[in-house]
Amino acid sequence: MSRVLFVTGTNTEVGKTAVTAAVAALAVRAGLRTAVLKPGQTGVAPGEPGDAEEVARLLGGAPLTTRELVRYPEPLSPERAALRSGMPFLTIPQFIDAVDDLTDSHDLVLVEGAGGLLVRYDAEGLTLADLAQSVTGAELLLVAHPGLGTLNTVTLTAEALRARKVATAGVVIGSWPSEPDLATRCNLADLPVAAGAPLLGALPTGAPAAGPGFTELAAVSLAPALGGRWDAAAFTQAFAVPFAG
Ligand SMILES: Nc1ncnc2c1ncn2[C@@H]1O[C@H](COP(=O)(O)OP(=O)(O)OP(=O)(O)O)[C@@H](O)[C@H]1O
Ligand SMILES: [Mg+2]
Repeated sequence: MSRVLFVTGTNTEVGKTAVTAAVAALAVRAGLRTAVLKPGQTGVAPGEPGDAEEVARLLGGAPLTTRELVRYPEPLSPERAALRSGMPFLTIPQFIDAVDDLTDSHDLVLVEGAGGLLVRYDAEGLTLADLAQSVTGAELLLVAHPGLGTLNTVTLTAEALRARKVATAGVVIGSWPSEPDLATRCNLADLPVAAGAPLLGALPTGAPAAGPGFTELAAVSLAPALGGRWDAAAFTQAFAVPFAG
């Protein structure tokens, strides 16, 4: 049976695409037939590469299916971008058809949201959470900002997911800095508590520029649950900050 994993974030620009690519790279290397679906792409002109193509680029030609359902040129929420462009909204049947089609022929389908969890895709208030609810057995990965402020947005997102009965597979830090500050280091212990789900990785800052080394970087940055060999306990321990006072 194929797995459908939704990827959302605590905000836009937190590294959802980079983390999606890291998960996809390891899945492809493990021999899984893998697809990346971006239901709603905003801020990209016709003919320009969207997030799904960016994932394919990061995989450097490894076999990957990419699919995008609606695209709007302005960098806005899908709802507002659709309204301003006069183009149609994404619909649930359109989404379900695409997922059915991809799950028929793939072992893993990664679905990257736009912005954070509750951003609207249409005027009725369709969100990624609704899309996740429409797929039986779907799980969701939450990509988080590493530093101060992330505990609140992770807690809010986790609470919204629980209220909607969407299973959270875990949290991944989208961009782990080379010199983490006090809050960032302490967040390693606090993020899984805020999320009510395990910490499943920390992609180092600079990962998208790793070139041919991207898959190996993914392997050392993602936990075994995502196909890598990152050790959450050891990483958290290594950055633990003793109380100074
Ligand atoms: N680990 C990282 N190291 C360095 N840069 C990163 C890392 N992860 C992401 N970036 C960069 O940060 C920017 C945002 O990342 P990304 O596109 O993955 O975010 P996103 O959450 O998918 O954003 P969107 O909401 O637009 O889909 C990109 O320019 C990307 O190259
Ligand atoms: Mg993205």
